[in-house]
Amino acid sequence: MSIRLGIIGAGGIGQVHAQAASDAGHPAKVLCDLDQARAEEAAKPWGAEAMTDVDAMLARDDLDAIVVALPNCLHAPMACRALEAGKHVLLEKPMAMNVAECQDVIKARDAADRLLQVGFVCRFAAPVQAAQQFIDSGRLGRIYHVRAAMYRRRGIPGLGRWFTTREQSGGGVMIDLGPHLVDLALHLTGRPQVVSANAVATSIFGSPLYEYRFTNMWAGPPNPDGKFDVEDGASVQLRCADGLSISLEMAWASHLPDGTLPDGVTLFGEKGAMHFDMWGDHLMIGTEMDGELVDVKHTVPEGEGWGTAFQREHENFASNCTSSTAPTASAENGRDVQSVLTAMYASVDSGSTALVAD
Ligand SMILES: NC(=O)c1ccc[n+]([C@@H]2O[C@H](COP(=O)([O-])OP(=O)(O)OC[C@H]3O[C@@H](n4cnc5c(N)ncnc54)[C@H](O)[C@@H]3O)[C@@H](O)[C@H]2O)c1
Repeated sequence: MSIRLGIIGAGGIGQVHAQAASDAGHPAKVLCDLDQARAEEAAKPWGAEAMTDVDAMLARDDLDAIVVALPNCLHAPMACRALEAGKHVLLEKPMAMNVAECQDVIKARDAADRLLQVGFVCRFAAPVQAAQQFIDSGRLGRIYHVRAAMYRRRGIPGLGRWFTTREQSGGGVMIDLGPHLVDLALHLTGRPQVVSANAVATSIFGSPLYEYRFTNMWAGPPNPDGKFDVEDGASVQLRCADGLSISLEMAWASHLPDGTLPDGVTLFGEKGAMHFDMWGDHLMIGTEMDGELVDVKHTVPEGEGWGTAFQREHENFASNCTSSTAPTASAENGRDVQSVLTAMYASVDSGSTALVAD
């Protein structure tokens, strides 16, 4: 059984969702955006309807589910509205601006008796799913350390627009790429409780005086009159209750040539260690067998990547909706990730270790 889907937010990722929903066999029926031209352009390839009135969209009884692909400050309020209107929701990351908003969403979900899935799309990347199988089979043994990184060379999304305006985004690279990295580290290690965070953040490439402000950044032309009051790089240490340590590095921009440092996830276990790039085509596993060091290269099918991960996310979401199955990328997972992000920002602000609230 298919779902009847609407997408709110027809920007960069709203359009990726529209493609993915079509690839998953349930093309969006409606795309809604404040910007009418953008809604129309995004709706066209799928023969979908374009709307600008969110209330009118949510009031329709021919939509079962909504993707919320809006600026971060609108995630929780819009998710609550959609749930209250009786829709299932696929909510982009980060789940919200703060933990209190996550709780609001959870309450709205429970009151509405609908599904709320958080857009932790990296879980659906082929190398991540293969890694999960190796971990579940015990190949790594107990995992004692995770290192995860996402480095970009010129990847500030929308310099001077909402992504770089704290009031609308809640922060910079830590709240943008951080949810993927934190969620993956926890997802692959059985979701241990994170106890504390130690984070250092930098803000280099958005400075008005900086010469790279106007070159080669992502997501359209920068807004020279806009704000940049967020961090663009961060280094984070997380300590978990079971002894696991997690080390995260992320940068929206840097001068490092692409590929110099390994991007992706590295897991260190007592029996084996593994590295993969989320969007790569293989995993490397190192272990010992019969007293010999053994390296295994496990390849995943060609053509797997960003688009396929979104397609799988949509297949999973549709299947959860139609079978009333609670999503594994749950609101509770989203809230736990948000608690870690909150502690990361508290650590940056205080210059010392911050405890993660239960
Ligand atoms: N899962 C991922 O890997 C991934 C990747 C990119 C972005 N995202 C997330 O997706 C969200 C959107 O990011 P983006 O890059 O698409 O941003 P974007 O700025 O390209 O698009 C946001 C869209 O929302 C529209 N909009 C704003 N307020 C609205 C309202 N009240 N009603 C209707 N439309 C409204 C804007 O006109 C714009 O078209 C962000 O939260 C971001 O973190 C996730």
